Amino acid sequence: MSQNRVAIITGASSGIGAASARLLAKEGYRIVLAARRVNLLEEVAIEAAGGDALPIGTDVGDLDSINNMVSTTIKEYGRIDLLFNNAGFGRIKWLEDLDPEQEIAAQIQVNLLGVIQTTRAVLPHMIAQGSGHIINMASMAAFIGTPTYSIYAAAKFGVRGFSEALRREVGVLGLDISVIYPGGVDTEFEQLMGADRKTGIKTPDNLKLSAEDVAQAVVRLARKPRRSVIIPGYFRFAIWLNHFFPRLNDWIIERAFTRRERRL
Ligand SMILES: NC(=O)c1ccc[n+]([C@@H]2O[C@H](COP(=O)([O-])OP(=O)(O)OC[C@H]3O[C@@H](n4cnc5c(N)ncnc54)[C@H](OP(=O)(O)O)[C@@H]3O)[C@@H](O)[C@H]2O)c1
Repeated sequence: MSQNRVAIITGASSGIGAASARLLAKEGYRIVLAARRVNLLEEVAIEAAGGDALPIGTDVGDLDSINNMVSTTIKEYGRIDLLFNNAGFGRIKWLEDLDPEQEIAAQIQVNLLGVIQTTRAVLPHMIAQGSGHIINMASMAAFIGTPTYSIYAAAKFGVRGFSEALRREVGVLGLDISVIYPGGVDTEFEQLMGADRKTGIKTPDNLKLSAEDVAQAVVRLARKPRRSVIIPGYFRFAIWLNHFFPRLNDWIIERAFTRRERRL
């Protein structure tokens, strides 16, 4: 049991973050819920029944906001045992159609720099404690670049590289760094991503994970830290194929998707 342990969850107002908050509260964590929509955070705090939850309005794209969230956590709870860097969004379009500021810079700012800056703000507290666990949210897009996901993939590949290097920096200090790589998950993410598929191609609903599936994987990681979790597990085969047969994957993706979407 994790009585009196403190977990910060970014992106806790919906989807995977909200589901993880509910499950980690049941594990006995006191939860800091961080995202921009404070009204939703307050609802999640109430739903995290039995748990002690603190909603803090936070924009992980803004350094002052991150620092305020971390210092408020320390002031209220005195320690940080788990950080789940989960906040993120995708704008899924051809590169030439993405707005340079609102869609390109903002995705890197939130999905990559948000993870880095929140980690950096939390790290001194974990180092002083001599313990702590950071779980970074990546995606299958951290292993396999697919058309229209270029910026999202750049950010998630970045999260993978950042996490690997950081693990080798802080493991010797008693800290654990994990990365979670889900496939498609049924959340608000898809409605917000702005994809306009001429072919209607998308992940079939029956292949999508639920937010709870991913949250359960987060809880298993929190109980027993591991370097990484890929869910569903069979996606390991796609990663293997992409790694060892990139030309074959280029060929399949260009014919099955890019040529049809670009009407070539
Ligand atoms: N859904 C998928 O298919 C899928 C697959 C693999 C990985 N992921 C990753 O899983 C994570 C969670 O996504 P989800 O599927 O649960 O989608 P979601 O329901 O849209 O949740 C995204 C969360 O991120 C928060 N967020 C976005 N921008 C933020 C910002 N600037 N500052 C603070 N919080 C921010 C949102 O809260 P506010 O709007 O209230 O700020 C929301 O709580 C993301 O990192 C996503 O890339 C998703």
